[in-house]
Amino acid sequence: MDYLEIQGGKPLSGKVPISGSKNAALPVIAATILSDGEVKLTNLPDVVDIRTMLTLLSQLGSNIEHQTTNATINTTTINSTKALYEIVSKMRASILVLGPLLARFGECEVSLPGGCAIGQRPIDLHIKALEKMGAIIENKGGYIHASAPNGLSGAKIVFDQITVGGTENTVMAAALAHGTTTIVNAAKEPEVVQLCEMIASAGVKIKGIGTSELEIEGTSGRLLVFPTTKIIPDRIEAGTYLCIGAITHSTLTLTDVNPSHLGAIVDKLETMGCSFEIEESNITIYPAKTLQPIHIVTLEYPGFPTDMQAQFMAVASIAKGESIIEERLFENRFMHVSELNRLGADIWLKGNIAAVKSVENLYGAEVMATDLRASSALVLAGLIAQGTTIIRRIYHLDRGYDNLEGKLLAIGADIVRKKDR
Ligand code: EPZ
Repeated sequence: MDYLEIQGGKPLSGKVPISGSKNAALPVIAATILSDGEVKLTNLPDVVDIRTMLTLLSQLGSNIEHQTTNATINTTTINSTKALYEIVSKMRASILVLGPLLARFGECEVSLPGGCAIGQRPIDLHIKALEKMGAIIENKGGYIHASAPNGLSGAKIVFDQITVGGTENTVMAAALAHGTTTIVNAAKEPEVVQLCEMIASAGVKIKGIGTSELEIEGTSGRLLVFPTTKIIPDRIEAGTYLCIGAITHSTLTLTDVNPSHLGAIVDKLETMGCSFEIEESNITIYPAKTLQPIHIVTLEYPGFPTDMQAQFMAVASIAKGESIIEERLFENRFMHVSELNRLGADIWLKGNIAAVKSVENLYGAEVMATDLRASSALVLAGLIAQGTTIIRRIYHLDRGYDNLEGKLLAIGADIVRKKDR
């Protein structure tokens, strides 16, 4: 199995190109199921989760040409509507095919994803929304069997909790439904906005894009013709490299970003003492003289993203004073705490709140990645730890960070991927 070996303490500087957003690309790929022909996608990140989603579509019968950042997907050849356990169990986002498959074919089976390292992560809100639109849904043999013999009908969906994937599945289902669907308390993440804009670019009328109330006029089953869609920059990858600048006290310029998506992240790093120069698609971070402690509560967009909680915890571990980090979205998203403590951090957990006490230095050790963002927090810590840090189970990182070692090597890090014999 691959692992990463990092020699900490190297000064970093230079430019980091930011890739397309994994979490925007996944629903965009699922949305090609709604299409009546070829769809071209550009700026895809070259990561395992994207390849998994493309494999899922190809198993359903789609024709796919994929070269690193571009793909052409033709879903007119789909001949199966069953998303198998072997794929869904690898990647929960596979659940995003539920809405579009049901809307287009009137029936489908999707394996239940089960829990994962960051929490229970139920899909009840996706199911309730589709039921409200007329779907009949049963849970049999580990699969969700969904059918809508007369097609889906527009409905008023009120989410009692904001859900990114639930909003995306409902938007895709509503696009082909009969009549108008209103989603109240919709997610407003930039990734949801990209999906809505893609569907609107195919002629579907959507009101309220980027707000918490969406109104979608369905096409009554008419399939969509999408123009080429360019995936938006990955705000979480960008945030991770900003944290790398902060923790290593380096000046770094990120290129190909959308700074307007980085508000909460930049705001917290400013509170910690970093400063920024922001241009149209570049952002430069200048290090803090002394990193200050912070108070973070994870929230839905535009609040502070849960996907940046672990990386900020690594930065906070060497700030001068005690930081408090409260995780509100996922009940178990603190697996990185004990691994950061193995590197010398002083973090105490009570329920969903972590108290991060200040330490002077971190020290290299052998640690284990537990999920995607937890793994990146360990890379951050390894970059400043004295001595050698070995990070195992890095298949988590490969799911969502495009060319991580290449990008870090280019700015001066001492990082190498090795294989166990
Ligand atoms: C998306 O997951 C992202 N994944 C996650 O990124 C991200 O952490 C999360 O949104 C929150 O921002 C993708 O976009 C592929 P939710 P999603 O539905 O859609 C509860 C990463 O590291 N909930 O918004 O699964 C749920 O348990 C990943 O890139 C229900 O209770 O998240 C959670 O507490 C990890 N019932 C909260 O809502 C439901 O039916 C928000 O989850 C659905 C969700």
